[in-house]
Amino acid sequence: MYRSHTCGALRIENLGEKVKLSGWVQRVRNLGGMTFIDLRDRYGVSQLAFNDGWSEDLLDQARKLGREFVISIEGEVLERESKNPQMATGDIEIKVESLEVLNASKTPPFTIENDTDGGEELRMKYRYLDLRRDPVKNNIILRHKVAQAVRAFLNQEDFLEIETPYLIKSTPEGARDFVVPSRMNQGQFYALPQSPQTFKQLLMVSGYDRYYQIVRCFRDEDLRADRQPEFTQIDCEMAFVEQEDILTKFEGLVKHLLKEIKGVDIDSVPRMSYAEAMRRFGNDKPDIRFGMEFNELNALVQNKGFKVFDEAELVVAISVPGCADYSRKQLDALTNWVKRPQIGMNGLIYSKFNADGSYKSSVDKFFDADAQAEWHKAAGSNAGDLILILAGDANKTRKAMSELRLHMAEELGLRNPDEYAPLWVVDFPLLEWDEESGRYHAMHHPFTSPKPEDIPLLETEPGKVRANAYDMVLNGNEIGGGSIRIHDRSLQSKMFDLLGFTPEEAKAQFGFLMDAFEYGAPPHGGIAFGFDRLSALLGGSETIRDFIAFPKNNAGRDLMINSPAPVDQEQLTELGIDLRPEA
Ligand code: AMO
Repeated sequence: MYRSHTCGALRIENLGEKVKLSGWVQRVRNLGGMTFIDLRDRYGVSQLAFNDGWSEDLLDQARKLGREFVISIEGEVLERESKNPQMATGDIEIKVESLEVLNASKTPPFTIENDTDGGEELRMKYRYLDLRRDPVKNNIILRHKVAQAVRAFLNQEDFLEIETPYLIKSTPEGARDFVVPSRMNQGQFYALPQSPQTFKQLLMVSGYDRYYQIVRCFRDEDLRADRQPEFTQIDCEMAFVEQEDILTKFEGLVKHLLKEIKGVDIDSVPRMSYAEAMRRFGNDKPDIRFGMEFNELNALVQNKGFKVFDEAELVVAISVPGCADYSRKQLDALTNWVKRPQIGMNGLIYSKFNADGSYKSSVDKFFDADAQAEWHKAAGSNAGDLILILAGDANKTRKAMSELRLHMAEELGLRNPDEYAPLWVVDFPLLEWDEESGRYHAMHHPFTSPKPEDIPLLETEPGKVRANAYDMVLNGNEIGGGSIRIHDRSLQSKMFDLLGFTPEEAKAQFGFLMDAFEYGAPPHGGIAFGFDRLSALLGGSETIRDFIAFPKNNAGRDLMINSPAPVDQEQLTELGIDLRPEA
C-alpha cells in the first residue's frame, strides 16, 4: 500500500493518526534542526516535518531530497505550531517516521509553482510537468466537471451518446481538411472530420432522434487563442424539431452549466438577429456585458466640408463613459492602436463632452459645439463622456470599431470574467459572397435550411435569404453554432447548385446524404458547442490551450512529442507516396 490518505486529505480531526502518504517533493526547507517538506499530489499539499531530535538519519535522508522526487512516507499527524489558514491541510503536519524514495527526479527545467519562471515554449515541451502546476491542473479538473455536467443534462433529456468515425471524407465546415493516406487503397485519402455533421444527420434518418457526442474535430486553419487544429465539440442533433425547440433545449444546457459550474443563475438567454448585432455592435458575436453601442453618424456629419467624413462609406461612433478627461497622451495611444496593421485604420477622431458642458474635438475646425452636441445626443452620451469616431470603408470600419469597443471595455475593466452574459444570435444569412472565388459560400454549412418565407429569394436575391441558423455567444465569444437542416433532396440539390457544385460533384461528395433523404428523413436540426472554449470561459479565460491537456502551439506543433515530423520513405512507399525529387 502506497498511501492511506492523499496529500490534501488530512485535517485537525486526524491528530494522532498513523498515516502513509505518497507524492512529489514540492519544496524542502531546512531551518536549523528542523526540516520541512511540502509533499504534493493532485489533491493538495501536506507538510512533512523532520527533527534531529526525532531521528538524525531521517533528517539526513530528507535533506538529500530534491524537487519533484517521488517519495512515500509514514508518520503521525501532529498539530502545527504555526498554522497556515491558506492551506486546507494548514492545521497539521506529519511527523515522519520512515521515508522511502520511490523515484528520483532531475531538477525540473522550470519551477513547478503557481507563478512559474518557465516560458510558454519550455512549458509546452515539458507539458507533463506543467500539468503538475495548480493553475493548469485546476483547468483540467474544471474541464472534466464541465464534461460530466454536459452528460448529466443531456442524458436526463434522453439524448444518446453515439460515436461516429474519424476516418471519413471531407465535411464542408469552411476549413481545410487534414488528410490520411490509405495503404490499402493507394492514392486515396481519408479526411479527418471537421465535425460529425453528416453522420449526425444520418443518425436522425436512422431514428435516433436525440444524439450527442463529446467529440474531437480537426480543422487545418490559422490558429489563434481560441482555435486549435484539433478541438472538441459537444455535438448535438434532434429530430422532429423546429428552431425554437433547439433554442429552448440548449439554452437549458447553458443555464445548467452556469449553475453547476459557477453557481450563476441566468433567467433566460436574450436573442438578437444577425442584422441587429451587426448594426448595434458591428459584430456577430457581441459582448453584451457593457454598452458603447455603435451609432452611425453619416447623416449628421457628411457634406460639412470634412473630407475624411465625406468620402467615407461609414462614419461610426461609440460613446465611452466617463472618459472625457482622457489626456492627449491617452488619445494618441488610442490613435496608434487603431493604426496598427491588425486594425489598419488611418486615424481616430474624438469629441469630448466635458463635465462643464463644453465640447472639444480633434475636428473643431469643421464642427462647432452645436454640431458635436448632436453627435453626443445621438450616441446617448452624458457630460463626462468621450466619443470615438472611425470613418472609411463600411466593412473595415465596422470591424475596427468592434475591436476598439472591446479594447475600451478592456481598458475600463468592463470585461469581468466572473460575469456571464450568454446571447443567441439568430437569423444568419444563408449565404455569403466570396470575392476571391466569385461565388456564394454557405455561411454556416451547405446543409442549413433557408427560412421557408425566404425560399423564393433563392432565385432572385440569394444574398438576402436568411437561414434557420443560430449561434450561442458568451461574453463576446462564439461558443456554439447550429441550424435546422434541409431534409428534402430537391432543396439540398438546389443548395449545392447555388454553391457552385455540379450535380456530379455533389453526388460524388454527398450522394450518400442525398440518397438517405429519399428513405424517410425526418425534419431535424442541431448545434455544436466548442467544448474547449466553453471550458476556458467557465474558467475565466479566453485561451483554450490552457484547458487542453496536450495542446499544440500557434504553428500547429506539439513541442513535447515534436510533431508533425517527417516519415521514412519506406513508410511512404507502402502508402504509394513518393516525395523524392526524381520521382
Ligand atoms: P461550427 O463550425 O460553428 O459548427 O463549430 C461549432 C463550435 O466549435 C467551436 N470551434 C472551435 N473551437 C476550437 N478550435 C477551433 N478550430 C474551432 N472551430 C470551431 C466554436 C464553434 O461555435 N457542424 C456544425 C454544428 C452544427 O451545425 O450542428 C459546426 O461544426 O465554438
